[in-house]
Amino acid sequence: MTVQPSGPTDLARMFAAHPDRRYVMFGGKGGLGKTTFSAATAFWLARQGKRVLIFSVDPQASLSDIFQRDIFGKGPVPIMDNLWAQEIDADSHIRAYQQEIRARILDMYGLKEVPEEIENYIQAASAEPAMEESAIFDAVVDLVVSGAYDYYIYDLVPLGHALYYLSMAKVYDEWITKITRLREEMREYEQVANVMKRKKTSEEDQILGELQYIRGRINASSRILTDRQKTAFFFVLVPEEMILLDTRRAAELFAKFDVPIAGYLVNRVLPAELARQDVPEFLQHRIAMQQRYLAEIERGFGQQVLAYVPELERDVTGLAAIERLAGIMYGDAR
Ligand SMILES: Nc1ncnc2c1ncn2[C@@H]1O[C@H](COP(=O)(O)OP(=O)(O)OP(=O)(O)O)[C@@H](O)[C@H]1O
Ligand SMILES: [Mg+2]
Repeated sequence: MTVQPSGPTDLARMFAAHPDRRYVMFGGKGGLGKTTFSAATAFWLARQGKRVLIFSVDPQASLSDIFQRDIFGKGPVPIMDNLWAQEIDADSHIRAYQQEIRARILDMYGLKEVPEEIENYIQAASAEPAMEESAIFDAVVDLVVSGAYDYYIYDLVPLGHALYYLSMAKVYDEWITKITRLREEMREYEQVANVMKRKKTSEEDQILGELQYIRGRINASSRILTDRQKTAFFFVLVPEEMILLDTRRAAELFAKFDVPIAGYLVNRVLPAELARQDVPEFLQHRIAMQQRYLAEIERGFGQQVLAYVPELERDVTGLAAIERLAGIMYGDAR
């Protein structure tokens, strides 16, 4: 087994050198270790006395799994001193959205009930992925903008989705288009509504105000995500051919979205010293294969690799295992 590093690792030094990087994200393909690294990082920062929120919008509830606690949809749940974990329940946010739209329509037109066609429209719009994404995004923005913690660790869903989040400004544009369309459809009801309307509303002002508010939030959040000073975005990979190819491709895409990458973390590295022991041929081959890809990673990403994390003998679940991994990733966990 690889021994624990005696001093701070490159990864620990990165955090020490950039105390402003308070928004921490781990991206990468499915199952490579994003949640595991998020938890170890959260643990290490909390041990340093920082107030840390680790959160996800993952319906799989993986934070509940790794911390062995029921966290889903419960708001920030205290895990240990200085550490809170939160799993955002996207569905409940969508329901809240729908309710908000209904309330606004009722209020605007002085109606008692939402007309059936409009209700159908609200239902249909909510089923669209863009609506779900924007509901999630909204919840994330609320969290991050509130600024109640020293560090925010966003445990991302697998890469494809993560890219989608990062291009969220586009999704929001769609949502704005939807509001505008909804508003146009409302005109059809205007005649009916005019009869029932009790008070005159300055509809134009309301909608304009809403759009400006949303734009402001988009700007605030995309500024955070793309801000090299404030964001540490790590890429998790393993020494395998397909993962290497995908990582290169994804890195190009992120560059396109102007998301700065703080570093690469290589997971599940088979300890090279194993090869010198009397191990089965099967394992010899796997180690040799990894060594090839590790050399390639070294050539391609070199200095940008901030940690090589060994393959452990079992899954990382529970605080004791997380603490051990934090020790490996950051040096002394205290
Ligand atoms: N270095 C390691 N040694 C042994 N097991 C590991 C290691 N890294 C991660 N694992 C295990 O691999 C599994 C997947 O890890 P994890 O859930 O962190 O991946 P993920 O990238 O978050 O996956 P998803 O894309 O599904 O969110 C977990 O069971 C975890 O405990
Ligand atoms: Mg995960």
